[in-house]
Amino acid sequence: MLHTAEAISRLGTESAFEVLARAQALAAQGKDIINLGIGQPDFRTPDHIVEAGIKALRDGHHGYTPANGIPALREAVAADLHRRHGVEVNPGNVVVVPGGKPTMFFSVLMFGEPGTEIMYPNPGFPIYESVIRFSGATAVPIALEEKNGFAFSAETVLSQITPRTRLIIINSPANPTGGVTPKEEIDKLVKGLEKFPDVAILSDEIYSQMLYGGREHVSLLQYPEIRDRLIMLDGWSKTYAMTGWRLGYAVWPDALVQHAIRLCINDHSCVNAATQYAGLAALTGPQDAVGKMVAEFDRRRKFIVERLNALPGFSCVDAAGAFYAFPNISGTGLTAREAQDRFLNEAGVATIAGTSFGAWGEGYVRFSYANNIENIEAALDRIGRLLAG
Ligand SMILES: Cc1ncc(COP(=O)(O)O)c(C=O)c1O
Repeated sequence: MLHTAEAISRLGTESAFEVLARAQALAAQGKDIINLGIGQPDFRTPDHIVEAGIKALRDGHHGYTPANGIPALREAVAADLHRRHGVEVNPGNVVVVPGGKPTMFFSVLMFGEPGTEIMYPNPGFPIYESVIRFSGATAVPIALEEKNGFAFSAETVLSQITPRTRLIIINSPANPTGGVTPKEEIDKLVKGLEKFPDVAILSDEIYSQMLYGGREHVSLLQYPEIRDRLIMLDGWSKTYAMTGWRLGYAVWPDALVQHAIRLCINDHSCVNAATQYAGLAALTGPQDAVGKMVAEFDRRRKFIVERLNALPGFSCVDAAGAFYAFPNISGTGLTAREAQDRFLNEAGVATIAGTSFGAWGEGYVRFSYANNIENIEAALDRIGRLLAG
């Protein structure tokens, strides 16, 4: 019998990958499955980005790069943040990593240990709670409520801070809810944090370019008063349809950036070189593909929210960002998990139970609209027939 460390048994998972595997297994048996489960754009990476990756390989970029990323890429990230958020960022504070997830893991490893507390959104991206538990810290949920459009409340966050709080994780626009926290609430949070100067903040802004209905993204980088303790996570996966390339970054404060670079050296050395050149082309090249993709998501968003609201027992708030709708399904009499299983097994539609995103997700199911309108329509027709039958 192997004696694995206790911590490994505390590691959770991301159910989207398990549902994907089940959906694929059903499809392999000949079942017709529509996948509204997975959280990745159904678009190809734009051609000029793909070409830049291929060219980098042809040009001989086959070796290690600096652990924090090639200088030109970190400079391009700083320029992009200036263009989008009007903020000055020193490229020396940018650490390029393989995707969005490593920054979460590194932040939690830096602050989490037994006896400490880390706050995280619930329902939220499941990896937050998983890695907090893994670290031995206590995971303190920030309850996100439908009545607030799933925005977080500054008051809730501030009222839960204790002398043991080391890190607060926030995410807007949010997975799985599509919630976007308004600027007034972020202003309130930042103001309230003045009283707690030794609490760090991880702001996961991976959906920063996916907002609808005229909403504008508010980056935590825009608050100079917390820059010395802010870790701002963003990346290429969602914006440029690059989930499989594995490329993301964070802006780290001076006090933490060397720890982050050491974690890279210990963990993966650097992101593969060709991917970094592709990421550089994404930031410095034409941005029209991003606008087109977001416009298409917006079209689907309106469609899916309307159709979900028409299903018996469903009610769905207007999804403001990302590419998820998170309807309340409690009127169907099903639990979140029952709904997920029945939609998949009986209607051939993959969705994700709200409880996969934390206990506060009971009564909800996540529908990703990263699929075409025809499939979304067919999926909702099938669920409608299942509920009627
Ligand atoms: C809120 C949030 N942060 C980060 C990530 C991770 O992104 P990546 O695939 O780049 O690791 C995801 C992916 O679904 C996400 O939803």
